[in-house]
Amino acid sequence: MLKILNVIGARPNIMKVAPLMTAMKRREREFTPLLIHTGQHYDAAMSGAFLRELELPAPDAHLEVGSASHAAQTAAVMQRFEPVVLREQPDWVLVVGDVNSTLACALVCAKLGVRLGHVEAGLRSRDRSMPEEINRILTDQVADLLFTPSRDANDNLLREGIPPERIKFVGNIMIDSLVKHLPQAKQSKIADELGVAGRDYAVLTLHRPSNVDNRETLLRLVQTFAEIAQRLPVIFPVHPRTRKSIADFGLNDEVDKSGLRMIEPLAYLDFLKLYSGARLVLTDSGGIQEETTFLGIPCLTLREETERPITVEMGTNIVVGADPQKIKSTVFAALDQPRATPKRVPPLWDGKTADRILDALVHAEHKLQFVESWSGS
Ligand code: UD1
Repeated sequence: MLKILNVIGARPNIMKVAPLMTAMKRREREFTPLLIHTGQHYDAAMSGAFLRELELPAPDAHLEVGSASHAAQTAAVMQRFEPVVLREQPDWVLVVGDVNSTLACALVCAKLGVRLGHVEAGLRSRDRSMPEEINRILTDQVADLLFTPSRDANDNLLREGIPPERIKFVGNIMIDSLVKHLPQAKQSKIADELGVAGRDYAVLTLHRPSNVDNRETLLRLVQTFAEIAQRLPVIFPVHPRTRKSIADFGLNDEVDKSGLRMIEPLAYLDFLKLYSGARLVLTDSGGIQEETTFLGIPCLTLREETERPITVEMGTNIVVGADPQKIKSTVFAALDQPRATPKRVPPLWDGKTADRILDALVHAEHKLQFVESWSGS
């Protein structure tokens, strides 16, 4: 029986941990899962509602770190996570993605000598000004098992000197959640409520520091989206970081007159329903690039690079950066194309990634027991 601590911190972690927890509960003779929430995201819309929809239990421990500078947030997670690990004595800790909580918990495990698995390992944007890139590189360096979503991630890890036996290509865990919840999401009434059901519309999400922490950049983007909103409705669920920037930079009037449909962050099923029916998606998120690829929805990534090149390879994702001309010309070209694009799904994005990860953990345990009994004989 393996005791596993599963860590969530921010919104995009929740849909990655949910399939793992569900699979561990199904395989109860092999696994005892515990859920630890660092509290990096704390708004109901960013956390509580997601936990319920994705059928996660109440966390076994809630560290309630909240927002702070990167150093303070990372340090607070480390300080509060260490006693949980010491108390629970898990066989493995699993961290997912690239948020500050991921790195903080990884460091705690490395220092305590507790085995660590990193789910969604090996992604690289090669832009070290992104906090997420630092979190990815460092977490991968200290993880004992690295679960990759695509082959390019394996190549990145090998280039960084990670021993091949630690790297497991298992596919994309987020797609497990998507596949499971798509039928339920179809029942959502969000498109009707927003008055866009059966119409062409775009969905916009924006929260990267590089796009929203600088007034000029954010203003230029809002003005660009305003031109797009003249052509079709643009639904904009606003991340708390972005809402704060809009207010702090005095851009509320600019956004009001842009024609963008600003709404609160959506729950998982509503958001899935909304983007799965969109004509196109504009985003700086990582996960949405992958979800749109799986569904065959055109996606424009509002960043200079992507750590998920497979989404570009599959033909759904175009990396356009923050240049107004490039964004507009790509959007208008996409709108002039026929709606249906042929869908190509990357290998192992099949809804079965959680079980492959669990199998790898069991296999690692067997190997360890074998080595221990062999060296003891
Ligand atoms: C974090 C992750 C990012 C991920 C994103 C998804 C890091 C470095 N970044 O970015 O990789 O894509 O989450 O959402 O870990 N806030 C609230 N309520 C909340 C959460 C945040 O109001 O529930 C506000 C706070 O004012 C905070 C700001 O949003 O200062 C940013 O939150 P933070 O967790 O630091 O980073 P995100 O931008 O959300």
